[in-house]
Amino acid sequence: MKINILTQFPEMFSPVITESILGRAAEKGLLSFNVVNIRDFTLDKHRKTDDTPFGGGAGMVMTPQPAFDALKSVGAEALRCIYMSPRGRVLDQSLAEDLAKEQELCILCGHYEGVDQRILDAFRMEEVSIGDYILTGGELAAMVLVDVVSRMIPGVLGNELSPLDESIYSGLLEYDQYTKPREYEGMEVPEVLYNGNHKLIHLWQFENSLRLTKERRPELLQSFLSEDRKFTKDEKKILDKVLSES
Ligand code: ADE
Repeated sequence: MKINILTQFPEMFSPVITESILGRAAEKGLLSFNVVNIRDFTLDKHRKTDDTPFGGGAGMVMTPQPAFDALKSVGAEALRCIYMSPRGRVLDQSLAEDLAKEQELCILCGHYEGVDQRILDAFRMEEVSIGDYILTGGELAAMVLVDVVSRMIPGVLGNELSPLDESIYSGLLEYDQYTKPREYEGMEVPEVLYNGNHKLIHLWQFENSLRLTKERRPELLQSFLSEDRKFTKDEKKILDKVLSES
């Protein structure tokens, strides 16, 4: 997948796209990033990318010309374009999965009071928020989106199975994890996890996930239960036990 990112702060993206899992995926050619500085497309000598809003009010608004030219330079007319904005659809795993199906994406990061609406209209931008709070700019939000989408692309995570077991992905929060040593400062790892009985391990993890989800995210548990899922007899017993607890 190719991801074009249009921003006035391109340096902010370097660590995210060159280090760790995304950096390795880019080296392997699974992902490519094209970070474009909108300021490079300004035509005036002050390299101005924003101006005061019509109708008054505080803050500055991104002007159409540099953004239009930057967007055209990456062929945004033909791409799925996303504008990071607190008034957009809130990002979740299903939106990430949907975006991960694209061959190429274009992400526009705004600043201050936002961008001229004509930019959003002309490029049929989908507005995406990463949560109900206001950041100083779209860059951090774009990094979150890039990270979430990238890890859905086959081969990006070393272990192909890992996104499948996970929390929100399976509909439940992820169970507690432990590693060596078995005992640390008097605290022990649950014995079932190292006795080698895979069926019991699975049931322990299922029960732990159910309990956590019931306690922390009851609305997720409700939608998990409303889906048409098949449970084994043992899973069903655990489900009944956890649901009957007050
Ligand atoms: N820009 C500012 N706040 C944002 C948010 N919460 N999500 C996406 N983009 C933003």
